[in-house]
Amino acid sequence: MKIDVPVNVCPREQLAREHQLLLNEAFAALDRAYAPYSHFRVAAAVRLASGEIIIGTNQENASYPIGICAERVALSTANSVVYDAQIQSMAVVYRPSAGPGKVPLAPCGMCRQALLEQHVRQGNSFELLMAAEHGDVWHVLDASSLLPLAFTPSNLE
Ligand code: THU
Repeated sequence: MKIDVPVNVCPREQLAREHQLLLNEAFAALDRAYAPYSHFRVAAAVRLASGEIIIGTNQENASYPIGICAERVALSTANSVVYDAQIQSMAVVYRPSAGPGKVPLAPCGMCRQALLEQHVRQGNSFELLMAAEHGDVWHVLDASSLLPLAFTPSNLE
């Protein structure tokens, strides 16, 4: 068995306008990350089918494991604010303490599982854009493709 994850590598300016706007919203949110321990700021912006954009940023805690990643803050917020939230796309960006990065950040394993659950609950795939402040964007058409061989609700049956 061989598993491929299809990723488009694309200069930011060649993305669709709405994807560029979503990335801009995510970059603007980096200042609202709370990362006093890692000094690694992450922000996620989700676009709903309604066009509404909802933000999440990483929220750390002196009790380190309590910290929450930006992606899961964004997903939880979207589903708390909007009934039956239909996410069309998510943009994830970051800024390390050393200054702007060049290589996109791909969501951690726990967040990939949460992205998959979002796909399941809304019944539709959604796009994922990953970017650093410099360099190309990684664009995935189906966010759940980042977690092949996943544990899904069907495993509970
Ligand atoms: N972080 C995220 O917010 N998203 C990820 O996908 C990876 C890591 C956060 C968690 C922690 O606050 C900091 O980045 C360093 O790991």
